[in-house]
Amino acid sequence: MDQPLKPPPLTPLYRILPSEPLLLMGAGPVPIPAAVALANGVVINHLGETMNAVIHEVKEMAKYAFQTESPYVMGVAGPSSAAMEMAITNLLWPGRKALILENGTFSARMGCMAEAVGASTDKIGGSHPAALDLDEVKAAFAKTKYDVVTLVQGETSCGVCNYNLPEIAAFCKSQGALVILDAVCTLTTMPMWMDQWEVDVVITGGQKGISSIPGVSLIAFSKTAWDVIIKRQAPMPHWCFDARKAHRFWGEQQYHYTAPVPGILAMYEALRLICEETLQKRFQRHKRSSEALQAGIEAMGLNLFVPTEIRLNSVVAIDIPKGIDGFKVRKTMADKFNVEISGAFGLDIIRIGQMGEQCRSHNLFKTLYAMGMAFRTQGFEVHLSKGMAALEQVLGGDLNDYVP
Ligand SMILES: Cc1ncc(COP(=O)(O)O)c(C=O)c1O
Repeated sequence: MDQPLKPPPLTPLYRILPSEPLLLMGAGPVPIPAAVALANGVVINHLGETMNAVIHEVKEMAKYAFQTESPYVMGVAGPSSAAMEMAITNLLWPGRKALILENGTFSARMGCMAEAVGASTDKIGGSHPAALDLDEVKAAFAKTKYDVVTLVQGETSCGVCNYNLPEIAAFCKSQGALVILDAVCTLTTMPMWMDQWEVDVVITGGQKGISSIPGVSLIAFSKTAWDVIIKRQAPMPHWCFDARKAHRFWGEQQYHYTAPVPGILAMYEALRLICEETLQKRFQRHKRSSEALQAGIEAMGLNLFVPTEIRLNSVVAIDIPKGIDGFKVRKTMADKFNVEISGAFGLDIIRIGQMGEQCRSHNLFKTLYAMGMAFRTQGFEVHLSKGMAALEQVLGGDLNDYVP
C-alpha cells in the first residue's frame, strides 16, 4: 500500500484506568492475590521441561479442587464459556439428545451450544428464582432417553443454587446419561465432589472462586465421558476445543496450540493457595462471609431476591426497591467509594460476589458501607449502622486468618 493507514490518536493506559483500582465485588472477575498477579507477568516456553513440571502440578492441584482422581483434567485457553463449549462439542453431535436443565442465563447457554452442534434438546426449568426439580427431571426421562444432561451448580445470573445436584446427578447416571456440570462460580467456594457424585464433566473459569485471571479455564472429564470421546466417529467441528487434541498437551506434553503460559502460571499459583488453605477451610470462609453479608444487607432494610433454602452463597442477589435506579446505585458505589458490584441480565436486582478473595472482612465492610451510602444518595433510607453491626456480629471475627 503506497499510503499506509495512520495509527489512531493514542491515549496512555493510565489515563483510561481509574487512579485507584476499583474493588471488584461483582459476579466476577474477582481480586487476585499478589502471587497470582506476579505469575501472570511471566512468559516461558509453552513446551519443554519447565512447562511440563508446571502442567503436572496444575493437573494434580486441579484434581484436588475438582475432587477427582480422573487423569482427564485440562486447562482451556479462553473464558469459562470456552470450557463449556469444549464439554458440549465433544459429547454432543447430530443424532445425540440432551436434556438442558435451566435456572437462568448460564444454564440456558449450554442449550444454545448443544443446538449449535446439531444435537436435539429438551429444556426444563426456566423460571427464576427457582431451583431445579428432580421430579421434573424424572418426568422428562420417563418420556425420552437422553445421552447428556446439562446443569449449573450455582446460577450466577439470579443467585440460585441447585442444592439437589447430587440427587439429580445420581438419577441421570442411573438412566445412562452423562452429566455436564457448570461449576463456574461455585468451584472451591462450596462442596462439589465430582467422583463421589458421579459427575462426568465439570467446567470452571479462572476469574471466580479460584481467584485467578479471566481467560484460562479448567475442565475435568470422567473416565466414562472420556470413553465416549475416544469412540466418537462424528467429525469434530473445532480444533482448539477438541479434547483428544488438547489431551496431547495436557497428557502427553505435545503441541496442540501455543498455550496461554502466563494464565497457566497464574492458575498454578491460585490453585496452590487453594490447596494450602484446604477446601474445608475455604468452604467455611465463603459460607461465613456470605452469611454475614446477607445478614448485613437485610438488617439495613433491603430484601434478598432468593429464598434462603435455594440461595446461592457465591453471588448474592438483592432486590432493587421500587423507584430506585440500580444503575445509579452501582455508579455511586464505583465513583465515590471505588467499589464495583454487578447489575443483572434483565432482572431488577443488583449482585454482590462472594468468591475467593472477595470473602475478606475488609472487603465486606467496605462494600456494605458503600452500598448503604449509595442507596441513601438515591433517596432510599437504609439503616446503615444496623447493617454494619449485623455484618460484624455474624462475621464473629475476621476472615483474614489465612492471607496468601
Ligand atoms: C455460572 C456461570 N457459568 C458460565 C459463565 C460464563 O463465564 P465466562 O464469562 O468466563 O465465559 C459465568 C460467568 O459469569 C457463570 O457465572
